[in-house]
Amino acid sequence: MMSDEYTEEPPVARVPTGIDVSVPSVARMYDYFLGGKDNFRADREASEQLSAVSPGSRAIAVNNRRYLQRTVRELAHKYGVTQFLDHGSGLPTQNNVHQIAQSVHPTARVVYIDNDPIVLAHGRALLMDNATTTVITADMRDTEGVMTHPDVVKLLDFTEPVAALFVSVLHCIPDSDDPGALLRRVVDRLAPGSFVVVSHLVAEDPEVRDRLTAFMLDATQGNWGRVRTPQDVAGYIADAGLEPLAPGLVEVSQWRPDGTKGPVPESTEWIEFGGVARKP
Ligand SMILES: C[S@@+](CC[C@H](N)C(=O)[O-])C[C@H]1O[C@@H](n2cnc3c(N)ncnc32)[C@H](O)[C@@H]1O
Repeated sequence: MMSDEYTEEPPVARVPTGIDVSVPSVARMYDYFLGGKDNFRADREASEQLSAVSPGSRAIAVNNRRYLQRTVRELAHKYGVTQFLDHGSGLPTQNNVHQIAQSVHPTARVVYIDNDPIVLAHGRALLMDNATTTVITADMRDTEGVMTHPDVVKLLDFTEPVAALFVSVLHCIPDSDDPGALLRRVVDRLAPGSFVVVSHLVAEDPEVRDRLTAFMLDATQGNWGRVRTPQDVAGYIADAGLEPLAPGLVEVSQWRPDGTKGPVPESTEWIEFGGVARKP
């Protein structure tokens, strides 16, 4: 069902023409888990089914978002980062990357990239008055296209350190598109002293990996990648020549906790695993 025909729910006026709201999207399922309003019945149903298949999925999303916010605050505040390239940025919510970065450095520059056009539609409204932040619709697998995009080169200076964010997105990339190689391509184009922030859904148990991968592939009609292992993620970081900052790669709630408590997941059979790493 295309958005034009979809009259049942209030946010329809804000959905760009051509978006199929009957197929759950990762961006809108995540928005639902975070308590956002930019999701549709199919997204909500798929999210509830995911919670039934794996209780704790909502808590994982909330804790991942809190991790993203802590990493950006830390990079801006402690490491003086003023440029952010956010791959798979998702729908805008509270305390977005640019709001956190610009609360530390008012002229911090932020580029959001997402391949779901709904993100552009909502991001544009949010960013109307913000001269140093932009959002583009692009597939992050097209590294050259992203890094030479006119809106990207207008805002970001790749001869200076940049923080490249890959938060809860590399698991959307199938093995056939090699997420490790994608990370390396981006890191190769970053200046020394740049940072990479990663989180990735992982599970130690192969049955859990297969079950949850199958669920997400089915729900999104194939628009997803794979639940991987912590070792896979550590390999991507090492192969890109990156050096993890303390405390290394961890379940994301454990990454420099700020004392505020997030929800405790009912199950830890899968987790968001990641950390922040520096290009020497
Ligand atoms: C789970 S959300 C994560 C949002 C945000 N990074 C966060 O962690 O709060 C994943 C996002 O990645 C986007 N995404 C998935 N594959 C992508 C690709 N190949 N290129 C760009 N964005 C992608 C989805 O549309 C979705 O908005």
